[in-house]
Amino acid sequence: MTWTKSHSGPRPDSPRQIIGTLIVVLALLFGPLAAPQPGSGQDGSGAPLGLLLTWQRDPLTTMTIDWHTGSNTTAQELRYRRVGAAEWLEGPSPDRSPFPHVEETFIHRIELTDLEPGTEYEFRLAEGGRTYRFRTMPADLRSPVRFASGGDVRHEREMMERMNRVVVPYDPDFILWAGDLAYADGLPERAYRWVDFLDVMMRSLVTSEGRAIPVLAAPGNHEVRGGFHRNSEAYAPGPEWQREFAPYYFALLAFPGHPGYGVLDFADYLSILLLDTDHTGPIEGAQTEWLRSTLEARTEVPHVFPAYHVPAYPSVRNPQGGVSTRVRELWTPLFDEFGVRVAFEAHDHTFKRTHPIRGGAVHPAGVVYMGDGAWGVRNRVIGASHPEPAWYLDRALTDRHFSLVTLHGPHLHILTVNEDGRVIDEYPEAPTLPR
Ligand SMILES: [Fe+2]
Repeated sequence: MTWTKSHSGPRPDSPRQIIGTLIVVLALLFGPLAAPQPGSGQDGSGAPLGLLLTWQRDPLTTMTIDWHTGSNTTAQELRYRRVGAAEWLEGPSPDRSPFPHVEETFIHRIELTDLEPGTEYEFRLAEGGRTYRFRTMPADLRSPVRFASGGDVRHEREMMERMNRVVVPYDPDFILWAGDLAYADGLPERAYRWVDFLDVMMRSLVTSEGRAIPVLAAPGNHEVRGGFHRNSEAYAPGPEWQREFAPYYFALLAFPGHPGYGVLDFADYLSILLLDTDHTGPIEGAQTEWLRSTLEARTEVPHVFPAYHVPAYPSVRNPQGGVSTRVRELWTPLFDEFGVRVAFEAHDHTFKRTHPIRGGAVHPAGVVYMGDGAWGVRNRVIGASHPEPAWYLDRALTDRHFSLVTLHGPHLHILTVNEDGRVIDEYPEAPTLPR
């Protein structure tokens, strides 16, 4: 009951938070959630229960906006305009789908297209409702692009909020999470965790100018009932099993959707690959073949980042674990072959950065593996399950953290900041200049 415990700490500071707590208590008493009432639009404020921005296609010219509402909400229309433009434009009518396991609650989804690259837009969901902003990605890297990377996001609400508040002032273009988001485990009785997660996002992943920060997220074991598809006797490849066993991940995140992995290309300068380490489907077979052809087609792209949950080179767990071993056998040779520089991992709840590794050994031109998933979770002990000290770890710390990745032309710089706002790592390390 860690969630309940988290709410016995700081006093809720608004009627909406008090009611959020009541919803949780009801959920704990009666199982699946009743429809959330306040804040779902009936109060006339137009405020949704949650807001989630992401991309399904070209991040230069599109934006996917999801919002979530409770019962009796009249269909909300989205209007948008370029910041500074006089006219509001009407968004397309939203696709509406049920919020899994929360009665009378809905996901509304639209994709805005034909936008201008590198441009700030504003949108609102109702006349007189709050105006939010979003930003399309630039056409090239003449100006820096920044994203915040991490994983293992929310054991407790306060932990997630605290990290979000450290992240947002850095003004990242988007957030990349390598799995384990709301810790609902795909279970109907834990839907409340996603309601709360989306509420936290809407409250604390918005900049002071009102810009909602888009999110890309790979699946982790806590998105799936049983954690790994191999644990399910009912497993059958395809969307049907995925929708049943990972209902929130597939319903609430427009990308990557089925089959649980995908690539997003930012013009010709950046490609993000979201991969699935055995959660909603197998590492081997179709996914590995797809990974090979996807990396092979992007050897000219200067910045290619795979992000996935279970680490090839874990900081806490035993590296001989089955999933880690399969990632090293099937995926890391492809990273080596096609010139990946950095891969983002999670799952172990620490900060780690490996030495550059190629062919399973330290190599100056190798891949650096960064992780290990500690955005808003309790930390673990480094090396706790290692049979011997890990040769591959360059740096490992028990800090909750995020990594700010800055891309500028061909250059890559990664600053890791802990939840107190202190820089705990810099990659590449600043050279010592001769005096
Ligand atoms: Fe995990």
